[in-house]
Amino acid sequence: MPQLDFYKKIEPEVSSFKSPYVIESGQGSYLKINGVDKLNFCSSHYLGFAEDQRLKDAVCEAVQKYGVGTGYRTLAGTHALHLKLEEAIARFKGTEAAVVFSSAYMANAAAIQTIIGKDDVLISDELNHASIIDAVRLSQVKNKFVYKHADTNDLEEKLKEASTVVKPDGDKPLMLIVTDGVFSMDGDLAPLPKIVELAKKYDALTMVDDAHGEGVLGKGGRGIVDHFGLVGEIDIEIGSLSKAFSVIGGFIAGRKTLINYYNLKARQRLFSIALTIPDTAAALKAVSILLESDAQVKKLWDNVNYLQKEFKNLGFNTGNSQTPIIPVMIGDEDKAREFSAKLFEENVFATPIVFPMVAKGKARIRVIASASHSKEDLSKGIEAFGKIGKQMQII
Ligand SMILES: Cc1ncc(COP(=O)(O)O)c(C=O)c1O
Repeated sequence: MPQLDFYKKIEPEVSSFKSPYVIESGQGSYLKINGVDKLNFCSSHYLGFAEDQRLKDAVCEAVQKYGVGTGYRTLAGTHALHLKLEEAIARFKGTEAAVVFSSAYMANAAAIQTIIGKDDVLISDELNHASIIDAVRLSQVKNKFVYKHADTNDLEEKLKEASTVVKPDGDKPLMLIVTDGVFSMDGDLAPLPKIVELAKKYDALTMVDDAHGEGVLGKGGRGIVDHFGLVGEIDIEIGSLSKAFSVIGGFIAGRKTLINYYNLKARQRLFSIALTIPDTAAALKAVSILLESDAQVKKLWDNVNYLQKEFKNLGFNTGNSQTPIIPVMIGDEDKAREFSAKLFEENVFATPIVFPMVAKGKARIRVIASASHSKEDLSKGIEAFGKIGKQMQII
């Protein structure tokens, strides 16, 4: 057997791998684990679509009609449902067009790798999601500038420095500012209006990853760009179909010319399979529901406001959250793990977020509110947090 040393080398690390909890139910307000219902305070199904009957029906109907599999988009895999989904997404986001990928991870990779070459310029918030960091690596861009989280003064400094970069052939490089819309560990928002202003001043393109803003922020959940009244002002909008839409997939939305450029060139579209029929049908149903009604979004925000208020009343520090992502700050990593384990004993499932997901000493329990929670669900969760918070002298 070759390379035995390699297996020996990775063994100690592998032994620390703990298999995650196995879920025996759907992703509703409770998760069944080892036969016990645990209050679900940790999944990003913001609008409660994961078990929505309308999505289930749409999937059954589409599967009966078309089966399950598709193909490669550029060969024989572009299904009429894909086009309907892309049209619905563009209408929802208020952009000229959209293109769907098998995840937002893929959409981020495509969005950056396709247009940014090694001599261009990439400017990124320090807390951007891992999928953006990986996408930047994939582009092999040499001129990378990372600005302090949401700090537009630092962004301007980086833009000034970046503006001096010239390509080896003397041409002006493409300059792209990339930011998460909602930061997934803190629930805070990118300062988009100022970013757009600076992008205009320094002639840069803008890209926002709105994975946690869609279905949540803006009119009827249209996202962070709508929330700030900036529709039409952002070049590249990334979305995930796995969060508020509760399915799988990702997309890029923007001008038709740009989307067609991605259709033509994105390797993630050329060399990876298209979304399956059931996924496409479910996502299309979720977007269509939101195009018609904001009922789920309103319910979500009722729950968010209630939870934020109750955590504050109890004396917890919930950071700078402005969204359903509510970080309950603990600080010490071991205490955060212990807090989460005690919650689990009280049948509340909320995961600890520790280094390296956040900086050392900034461990927290990340609570995620959803439209699927009833007021009783939320009160039960709050009660458990209060009890354990006092026990552990955090409040
Ligand atoms: C900000 C952000 N972007 C992208 C992704 C990746 O989304 P997907 O699961 O659709 O690949 C995530 C997932 O957690 C995210 O939080």
